[in-house]
Amino acid sequence: MSSASPARSSGQAFHAQPNTLCGAHTVEAAERAEGGQPVGAQDSAWYVVPEQLSIYGTELYDELSPPDKHRLSRFEAALWASNTVHGEDQVLGGLAPRGDLHYFVGVFAAEEVNHQQMFRSYLQHLGVELLPTRAVGWMTPPLTEAEFFACTYVFEDIVGRSNRAIAKDERCHPVARAVNHAHAVEEAVHLNFGRANLARIIPELTEAERNRLADQVGSYLRAVWRERYRSDVYELAGLPKPWAIARQAWSAPRQVAHRVDYTTRALRHLTVLGLDPEEIAS
Ligand SMILES: [Fe+2]
Ligand SMILES: [Fe+2]
Repeated sequence: MSSASPARSSGQAFHAQPNTLCGAHTVEAAERAEGGQPVGAQDSAWYVVPEQLSIYGTELYDELSPPDKHRLSRFEAALWASNTVHGEDQVLGGLAPRGDLHYFVGVFAAEEVNHQQMFRSYLQHLGVELLPTRAVGWMTPPLTEAEFFACTYVFEDIVGRSNRAIAKDERCHPVARAVNHAHAVEEAVHLNFGRANLARIIPELTEAERNRLADQVGSYLRAVWRERYRSDVYELAGLPKPWAIARQAWSAPRQVAHRVDYTTRALRHLTVLGLDPEEIAS
């Protein structure tokens, strides 16, 4: 462990081995507990919290039948799962050259690989193929250490917030709750690691570097949120005029408020460390 290790500088401890609670067996165990098989195309349950749906707060949401809402929740759960897999790919790419930074980098990477297996199994449960990302690769060109940890931090914080909401909501299907709970537990430790690294890195930046970092984080956040309003997902869920829905949902006041709500917490730590919230505005 280096003298600049985040664990020492923050006083926080990180587990030394990957947490074995998480992985493909999380889905299998939850399915067995339900006494059944993958539900696939059964549209009689919530897979995300209804208030998290990307069309919540629009007239269209009010007009949909319960099975249509459940079906959309299944495809939006698949979108969250797919985008988590893609985001974790990017995180793994960023961790790869940083193995010497701290012993936890290896554990972190092993856990992300485990999460990807879990989310791929969850996609099978949902009866949906891995959905492609529409975001341009945010690791190209290679990010600075500050950019990598800041973007990873906001990504993990937003995903973790969604995970926790689903995990504790009794309206959601037990498999959805189990998967989201397993991910939230390990992401909490990743966030601690990210906070410790950012507390070491950001104070050493010049004002110009901090402004560039804030701008980068803002661009990244817009890309993350844009991925949530996907015409291809609306089309898969059988909604009419999916392109119009994507445009209208993005601008709906309830959706703008939701994005601000979920992003504020992710940014709080960065602004405490000295990033200008105006520069990050998303
Ligand atoms: Fe993860
Ligand atoms: Fe993570």
